[in-house]
Amino acid sequence: MDQATQIARIKKAFQYIDSGQTATTPGVKRAPVAAYTDKPWLDRELASIFKNYPLFMGLSGVIAEPGDYLTMEHSTLPMLLVRGDDGVARAFINMCSHRGAPVAQGCGRAANFTCRYHAWTYGRAGDLKVIPDQRNFPGVEPQNHGLMPLPLVERHGMIWVQPDPAAKIDLDQHLDTMQGELAGYDLQNYVHYQRRVLHRDINWKMPIDTFLEPYHFAALHKDTVAPIFFGNLCLFEGHGLHHWMAVMRKSIESLRDKPEAEWDFIKHTAISYQLFPNTIFTMQADHVETWRIFPVNNRVDQCVIYFDCYVPEPVTSDKAKKYWDKNIDLAIRTVDGEDIVIQQEMERNYMSGAMEEILIGQNEPALAYFHQSLERAMAESEG
Ligand code: FES
Ligand SMILES: [Fe+2]
Repeated sequence: MDQATQIARIKKAFQYIDSGQTATTPGVKRAPVAAYTDKPWLDRELASIFKNYPLFMGLSGVIAEPGDYLTMEHSTLPMLLVRGDDGVARAFINMCSHRGAPVAQGCGRAANFTCRYHAWTYGRAGDLKVIPDQRNFPGVEPQNHGLMPLPLVERHGMIWVQPDPAAKIDLDQHLDTMQGELAGYDLQNYVHYQRRVLHRDINWKMPIDTFLEPYHFAALHKDTVAPIFFGNLCLFEGHGLHHWMAVMRKSIESLRDKPEAEWDFIKHTAISYQLFPNTIFTMQADHVETWRIFPVNNRVDQCVIYFDCYVPEPVTSDKAKKYWDKNIDLAIRTVDGEDIVIQQEMERNYMSGAMEEILIGQNEPALAYFHQSLERAMAESEG
């Protein structure tokens, strides 16, 4: 982020702090509760937004070396990401060509992928290398039965996959003006430190919603993040279907006495990029946290949350480990221990059918924008 942009954003933050205001959206938005409770609504989302847009899969460091792989199981296609011996990241449907078992589980580093069922074996480029007792599969040519590839683009240190084998990713079009924001962070240099996988009984949009407004900090997070950040105060900017929202650390006040040339926006804020449709990408003062949320089990009221923490350099000392673990603990305690706890209660309330609309205030511009982007994308996909 260039210095002029940082100064402009910090000045805006001071203006809000001094006047007790925040970024706003015109008018109160009403969003249908059905978006959180109706199975047909989820089916529409899966058929449109989860199929027609590239999904953020992680920073390049998530599969840093040849053979590093990562699997995901959710309500789009089962996925296997693997870096080949040629350094190229590839994505496949995690499904054996023989009878459809997954060929890999979890994450790790592998020379080959051997299916547990009958031991058909695939290489790091998805090629089928071994069919045990091949004489009984006449006419089955291994070169025609590799893992089915999914479109993948790796750029600016980020990996994108579209869960539609027939799709072609146009990342410039997808990222729109958000590309410049992300390209400036040298994300290819970050090291993957830790992943958490959480299965929770809430609609997939809820964990995203909770990142999109600091209106709830003072009440819900009074013992976790409220002491660190200004509540009910955010900066916001929309970029195509995506947007970013920044909340201010109280430490930003220390900049008032410093020359503008020394102002550092990232150090004194947490900026969350909502990468459409299902990612929250947070630039923290000194590391990156990403939250990717998918519907799971084909249920409107269940999701899987992939949390990943990336750090600027390999963690080699106990001191560094303790420091990053403390950061992750605060993130998980806040989001899983506070936001998601109340959201599970909200999901149950929504399921009662007693409410038709939720209200999004003028002080929640990012949340309103997210729901508008969903509406826009669904309308476009459904023509
Ligand atoms: S299903 Fe994979 S080897 Fe048979
Ligand atoms: Fe929260």
